[in-house]
Amino acid sequence: MRKKIVAGNWKMNQNKAEAVSFIEALVKEDKPQDVQMMIAPSYVMLDACKQAATDELVIASQNISQHDKGAYTGEVSADMLKSIGVKTAIIGHSERRSIFGETHEILAEKVKQAINNSIQVVFCVGESLEEREAEKAESTVKSQLEDSLFFLSEIEMKNVIIAYEPVWAIGTGKTASPEQAQEMHAFIRSLIVDKYNQHVADATSILYGGSVKPSNAKELFAQPDVDGGLVGGASLKVDSFVELLHSFK
Ligand code: PGA
Repeated sequence: MRKKIVAGNWKMNQNKAEAVSFIEALVKEDKPQDVQMMIAPSYVMLDACKQAATDELVIASQNISQHDKGAYTGEVSADMLKSIGVKTAIIGHSERRSIFGETHEILAEKVKQAINNSIQVVFCVGESLEEREAEKAESTVKSQLEDSLFFLSEIEMKNVIIAYEPVWAIGTGKTASPEQAQEMHAFIRSLIVDKYNQHVADATSILYGGSVKPSNAKELFAQPDVDGGLVGGASLKVDSFVELLHSFK
């Protein structure tokens, strides 16, 4: 009942020619009908990617401003995204948290801004290696959700996808084992049951991210609470992205 999704987070990769030729090639590939494809290019490529994409491919932004408009040099607003047809934004990626200092409060404002503008949110959570080793993985993820997402209403939660991305697995080649991923995903789903109800929990897609690649995706996506992946490195080549789309049982 919930969607299977493979989302590519291109981060600061792909210039215009690379981005557009990727989208044009992807559109022509043979893909499973029941998997939602999503690509998040850099802000400046969004419009070109949108134009090259068909309706089956969601083009998402990697970030969004928490402000409506005004003197915020370098920022991009929800209204600007909507004006080029972008209806999904990744919020709370660990690189935004750690490199750009996005706090729980800022992320809550970004979530509010997106949802108030009918922009779907891909909300990222995940613990650091130190937190996992100190057995604080679950409490970290719980507070990330409680502080920046769980103020939404049940209806607003319909427009949310959650991505669990353990920081120690991002770009490191070290993936969480399928069991570790399943354990955290089931925990996240139980938190949604506690805060909302079973219906909301069953309807919310929870993606795993962190060194997902064609060689490990099948096992990860086979876990009952893993509904797909948020993929960095392995989303940069059409072949491997398409392989990921075919990695669901
Ligand atoms: P990775 O990145 O697949 O390159 O580890 C995932 C992400 O940061 O979303």
